[in-house]
Amino acid sequence: MGWAQGRHALVTGGGSGIGAATARALAAEGARVSLIGRRREPLDAVAAEIEGRPFAADVTDRAAMEQAFAAARQVNGALDLVILNAGIGDSAPFLRTTREAWDRIIATNLTALFDGAQLALPDLLDGADKRLVIVASVAGLRGAAYAAPYVASKHGAVGLMRSLAVEYARTGLTVNAVCPAFVDTPMVDDSAARIARTTGRSEEEARASLAEMNTNGRLITAEEVAASIVHLCRPDSGAINGACLTIDGGVMA
Ligand code: NAI
Repeated sequence: MGWAQGRHALVTGGGSGIGAATARALAAEGARVSLIGRRREPLDAVAAEIEGRPFAADVTDRAAMEQAFAAARQVNGALDLVILNAGIGDSAPFLRTTREAWDRIIATNLTALFDGAQLALPDLLDGADKRLVIVASVAGLRGAAYAAPYVASKHGAVGLMRSLAVEYARTGLTVNAVCPAFVDTPMVDDSAARIARTTGRSEEEARASLAEMNTNGRLITAEEVAASIVHLCRPDSGAINGACLTIDGGVMA
């Protein structure tokens, strides 16, 4: 068994994509994994695969999150490694972006991090080698057209991460972010479908155009992002704090 044996890892949005890959990778290192997500079925499937525990909750519902965190603690003990990964994307020209879309994206990608961090911190401030990792994006580090709410939410995520990293720098907790470019997950499937709908291109062509926007010319894999999250969680990564680890094939170079 690996370095994470005996540690409790909680992953939000753990039923698919980067969250599922991260849950698998942490379980492979020996962690007891709690998975939080909205959709019961994929959550149950990943949990069954890794002998983890699924807890259904919408991350934008603080009371439901409080219950899920309490249930996870009851089953798997105090939290050691917390990965706030759940998120949504959307795209539209700014002047056609509705206030509803703005509110929904900020609530899911940013306000839910505030809630998740507040719920996790009492455990994370009690002990050594505790980790909070936020899944942000290169959209947290630079602007992008047709994605103002998403970009704003991810910049907010990076700002929250940096603030917590500084505030708690002298404790056993580190707080970091991973910032991927386009990753081959259901989120990119949705983006490709949206591009296909609005441009008349095929979904394959749309996916290829997204891959082309990554400097290395291919989509990043969820496993590549998970490997970086695991790296940040390792006990020998304790001096990495407040970092945005880019996993982007060179987009930010
Ligand atoms: P995904 O769509 O497979 O994963 C998102 C997960 O979050 C899903 O399991 C979904 O059910 C869950 N989720 C969404 N809203 C939720 C809510 N209100 N309550 C509970 N769970 C909720 O896509 P992916 O790519 O794995 O996304 C994970 C994170 O990675 C997101 O924060 C996303 O912004 C970020 N990211 C993704 C990139 C990509 O190109 N796929 C690039 C950079 C960052």
